Amino acid sequence: MRILFLNGPNLNLLGHREPEVYGRLTLSDIETKVRERARELKMNVEFRQSNLEGELVGWIQQAQGKFDVIALNAAAYTHTSVALRDAISAVGIPTIEIHLSNVHAREQFRHKSLIAPVCCGLIAGFGANSYVLALEAAINVNAK
Ligand code: DQA
Repeated sequence: MRILFLNGPNLNLLGHREPEVYGRLTLSDIETKVRERARELKMNVEFRQSNLEGELVGWIQQAQGKFDVIALNAAAYTHTSVALRDAISAVGIPTIEIHLSNVHAREQFRHKSLIAPVCCGLIAGFGANSYVLALEAAINVNAK
């Protein structure tokens, strides 16, 4: 099983970006945690980050035929991007929305996700562990 982890804007700053909200692990530390668990579960993971909306859209489009599941922390684009929502919808790859923080316990503008209606599920509020939980959820993504 192949899982594509996509990370949106400012997640390259994890580790020193508002650590009281996002924790002290860097994105590279999170990738290491995910890779350790993926090895145990015999899953293939790829990890990418971009601050550019169009680049994320391109990666979602190119995932077709290459990945079984996308795990997406769209960061601020979660709350604004029709383009990301349309890309997820267009490619039809099951997509799991991830957030480190519990977006519903934060400012009102973070309560709205434009991508949630086209994702198969959402994991938020568990810090770096949200990523590991997304990996575990990906195994049975189509089971109800
Ligand atoms: C975030 C939550 C978003 O609201 C915010 O814009 C981020 C990070 C999270 O992982 O908690 O950049 O996606």
